[in-house]
Amino acid sequence: MSRISYVNGRYVHHSQAMVHMEDRGYQFADGVYEVIAFYNRRLLDEIPHLERLERSLKALEITPPMPQASLRFVMRELLARNNREDGTLYMQITRGTARRDHPFPKHTRANLVMAVTGPKCPKEKEVSEGVSVITQPDLRWARRDIKSIALLPNVLAKQAATHAGAREAWLMDENGFIGEGAVSNNAIVTAKGEITTSPTDQHILGGITREVMLELARKEGIKILLKPFSVKEAEAAEEAFLMSTTSNILPVTCIDGTKIGSGRPGKITLRLLELYHEHIYRQTGKR
Ligand code: PDD
Repeated sequence: MSRISYVNGRYVHHSQAMVHMEDRGYQFADGVYEVIAFYNRRLLDEIPHLERLERSLKALEITPPMPQASLRFVMRELLARNNREDGTLYMQITRGTARRDHPFPKHTRANLVMAVTGPKCPKEKEVSEGVSVITQPDLRWARRDIKSIALLPNVLAKQAATHAGAREAWLMDENGFIGEGAVSNNAIVTAKGEITTSPTDQHILGGITREVMLELARKEGIKILLKPFSVKEAEAAEEAFLMSTTSNILPVTCIDGTKIGSGRPGKITLRLLELYHEHIYRQTGKR
C-alpha cells in the first residue's frame, strides 16, 4: 500500500514529501503541529484539535495557510488516499520558507504538511499491567500551552525514559511539581478517589484527551482537583495514569522505581479508560 502525504497543495508519495531547507520550522522550530487519531477513517475529536491549532498559530502570529473548512477537506482527502482504517494524522504548519533571518519574513506563506501513520496505541500488556515512568527536570520554555514543534527538551526527556526502560518521563519543575509528561498529560487519584491533574495554564499543553477525560470523570461524579502534584504525592497516590492522542488513557503503576498504590492499574483509571473507549465508539463506530 503506498503512503501518500500532503505538502503545500500536493498529494505526493511519502518519499517525495519535502520542504525547502530554509523552511523556518527546520531552521528555527518556527511552527506548530497537531496529532489526530482516526478510527474507521473518521477523525477523533477533530474540532477541538483544530481549535487548538488555531490558538497555537495565533499565539505565534502565523497566518493559517487556508481556512479551517479547507483544512478539513484536505485531511479527509489524505485519509481517502491512504486507504488506512485506523491510525494517526500528523499535521505541521510553519511560518514558511525564507532566507534565514530571525524576524518574521514579510511575504512568506505558511508551509503545511500532513502525513498519515498506522495506530500507535499501547500494547495490551501495558494497559492490563500498567507502565512505569521516571521523573526528569523540565527544561522547556515558558509557553508550553502552544503546540510548538520545538520539542528538543521533550525528546531528551523521552529518550531518558526509553533508556531507563520506562514508558514516559514526567517533567518536574524546580519545586518538585509535575505538570505533565514529555509527550502526554497525567493525573493521579488520591486515596479519597479524587483526580488531581494540572490546570491548563501556560505551564502545560492542554491535551484533548485530558479534556475528554475530565468531561467523562465529571459525568461519572468523580471529584477533580486542578493543581499540579508533587513527586511525593504521586508516590503516595492510589492510582496514576497518563493521557494522549496516541496512548489514550494508560495506567501508570510505578514512578522512579516506586510502586504506586497496589502496583496494579487502578479501578478509577480503568473505568475512565472504558468510558474513553465508548467515546471513541460514539464518534467513529470503532470498538
Ligand atoms: N503529544 N502534553 C504534551 C507535551 C504532548 O506532547 C501531548 C501530545 C499531550 C497530550 O495531548 P493530546 O491529548 O491532545 O494528544 C500533552 C502528541 C501525541 C505527540 O507529540 O506525538
